[in-house]
Amino acid sequence: MFSPNSSQAHSVNNLLLLTTAIGAVILLIVSAVVFYSAFRYRSDLRPGEPRQIFGNRNLELLWTGIPVILLIVLFGFTINTMVRIDPAPSPQQQPDVIITGYQWWWHVEYPQAGVVTANEIHIPVGRQVLFELRGGDVIHSFWVPQLGPKRDTIPGRVNHLWLEANTPDVYLGACAEYCGTQHAWMRIRIIAQPQAEYEQWLQQQRAAAAAPTGGEIARGAQIFQQQTCVNCHAIQGTGANGQAGPNLTHLGSRQTIGAGVVENTPANLASWIKDPRQIKPGVNMPGYQLSDADLQALVAYLESLK
Ligand code: CUA
Repeated sequence: MFSPNSSQAHSVNNLLLLTTAIGAVILLIVSAVVFYSAFRYRSDLRPGEPRQIFGNRNLELLWTGIPVILLIVLFGFTINTMVRIDPAPSPQQQPDVIITGYQWWWHVEYPQAGVVTANEIHIPVGRQVLFELRGGDVIHSFWVPQLGPKRDTIPGRVNHLWLEANTPDVYLGACAEYCGTQHAWMRIRIIAQPQAEYEQWLQQQRAAAAAPTGGEIARGAQIFQQQTCVNCHAIQGTGANGQAGPNLTHLGSRQTIGAGVVENTPANLASWIKDPRQIKPGVNMPGYQLSDADLQALVAYLESLK
């Protein structure tokens, strides 16, 4: 929030600073008056009660008028910021990215490119990207403070959000609406890239999963299809088309697993498959009791899905 990287985030930041500044001035004035009165009218200087004032019209006008003016000013600046950062998309405009919040991960879809992924969102730098936000189960809130405002994902409702990144970088965000035990581990990673790099990424994500090569990876692919993995996860280009969990077509190309809970390394992925609830208590995915060799083959296969 304090290091904005887009015009939207700058506007939000300016509004925050203005509100804080006005609040700070009021705090200073009120504190000064309280300390002055406490000192000036302390009882060892003047015994008894000081002179009481009742029904002073000017005073009452003053302390009603000033807050009303301040509220009008803040209201005006707030509306101005909202209008500037949040223009309604035209009805014909297709969203660039559709995000659906689930307990506790983000389903990410690029409808125009036909790409589905999870938790890590690539965007091109230097242009406004239109997000469509949906709720898959309970209310979540999508927030990447450096890039823009916070917006809820609500079941049965479609929200829109414009985000933009001025410089290529990885921007971190999180769910900002309490949604259950793993609310804190519903992280967002926005990877902002130059247009050409972004298009290259889209193209790579659009491709079907890499065909398994080599003995171990092929065996891993077989294990994936035989176990109940396929009931919840999709891998494009194989029979697996489960929709309950994150799409794994290019899992090997992601930086983290479990919506950011651990880095995507073979060791972490193995621990995750063995007992995800050890890493992320409450997560829907069950643990799998596989032999060490089978687990290793499965991990090798999933990590080969670049
Ligand atoms: Cu999702 Cu909090």
